[in-house]
Amino acid sequence: MCFLFLYGKEVHMEQLKIEKMRQFYDLFPYPNRPFFLSPKIEAHFTSHGGFSHLIALNRRPFAQKIWQLSSRCLKENKGINKKDLYMIQGELEAVFPSSKRILLVGCGTDEPLLYRKLHPNNEIVAVDLSRKVLKKAKKKLSYQRFKNFFTHQDRFRKISFLLGNAEVILHEKALGGFDFIQCFGVLHHQPAPYFLLRAMEERLNPGGVLRIMVYSYHGRKLERRIQTRYKKLWDSFFEKNFKFKIFQNYIQLRVWQLLNYLGFRPATEDRFRYLGPGSTSVADALMHPSDPGISLNYFHESALQLGLEMIYCEGKIENIGYETGFENPQEVWNKVVDADTRKELLTNPILIYRKVHKFEARQ
Ligand SMILES: C[S@@+](CC[C@H](N)C(=O)[O-])C[C@H]1O[C@@H](n2cnc3c(N)ncnc32)[C@H](O)[C@@H]1O
Repeated sequence: MCFLFLYGKEVHMEQLKIEKMRQFYDLFPYPNRPFFLSPKIEAHFTSHGGFSHLIALNRRPFAQKIWQLSSRCLKENKGINKKDLYMIQGELEAVFPSSKRILLVGCGTDEPLLYRKLHPNNEIVAVDLSRKVLKKAKKKLSYQRFKNFFTHQDRFRKISFLLGNAEVILHEKALGGFDFIQCFGVLHHQPAPYFLLRAMEERLNPGGVLRIMVYSYHGRKLERRIQTRYKKLWDSFFEKNFKFKIFQNYIQLRVWQLLNYLGFRPATEDRFRYLGPGSTSVADALMHPSDPGISLNYFHESALQLGLEMIYCEGKIENIGYETGFENPQEVWNKVVDADTRKELLTNPILIYRKVHKFEARQ
């Protein structure tokens, strides 16, 4: 085990990495959208606990239909017709009733509001490392509550927010079991992802599902190379002018990205166009203090080792488009991993796992 002395105290190296990450998200809460923006639930039905449960129940053609309607809604910013909307909402609520419990691990600023809108009556527990992130998430919910009051919509049920390292919280707090756990954009930042994965697996009820999104590995090598420039800076987070230095570097990066975006830097303009004209996504991609680069199969093999069953995966591949594993998730997963090796994976993959019941595991 590796220890370091800080302020005269013994600090575990992994704790130090978590502390740097907390500093990062306190400075750059993610995603940093305005508090008054509210997600359109039709465009996010695939995030609904019922979507994953439909797949777990082998109602794959219906889940695929939801995926298609929801993706179209997200891409074209169009609604779903009323008949389909009522039908989908009815089915999602039937397989995932309000008695089911939801856990958001590394919830960020936006997931709590999205999940409250998708699941108005379910119990939701949201965990995050950063105080600033949770503050923003609560502000978003308060604003919607205020708006709902004037538009005579139902009052939102409260969400239980927990501040701290999810791995520790899940071990130490008596939280009970969950039927759906969402962990997006978090595992690849952990100093020891297996232990967070294990903590989540332990909190899943039998038959419950875990939905994760992890970074592609090969496609992000350039981002990680840029991040190493700031490594020393993050190591000095306890120094006096640390925040000033971070913002100085951040401003430089934003200017650089703006030039990229406007086409003044032909060598890198295509590569970083996806970051937009400059926002916290620039910091998230290029200044992150904890993005070690972990192979995709590490996550999948760790999940299998914990006894989880992969029931779905998806990823967008260059010249092919979205590959979705409604029929044969393992086959699609192999394609996604191959595409990542060729640097042709255009999105970070999403995976859904189910915790098998004990009697199934014994068979
Ligand atoms: C990239 S953001 C993703 C936010 C959100 N899940 C989303 O997809 O919009 C990662 C979030 O996870 C939180 N986080 C990272 N490691 C964590 C840990 N060990 N325990 C709790 N939260 C963590 C960060 O504070 C940050 O808000």
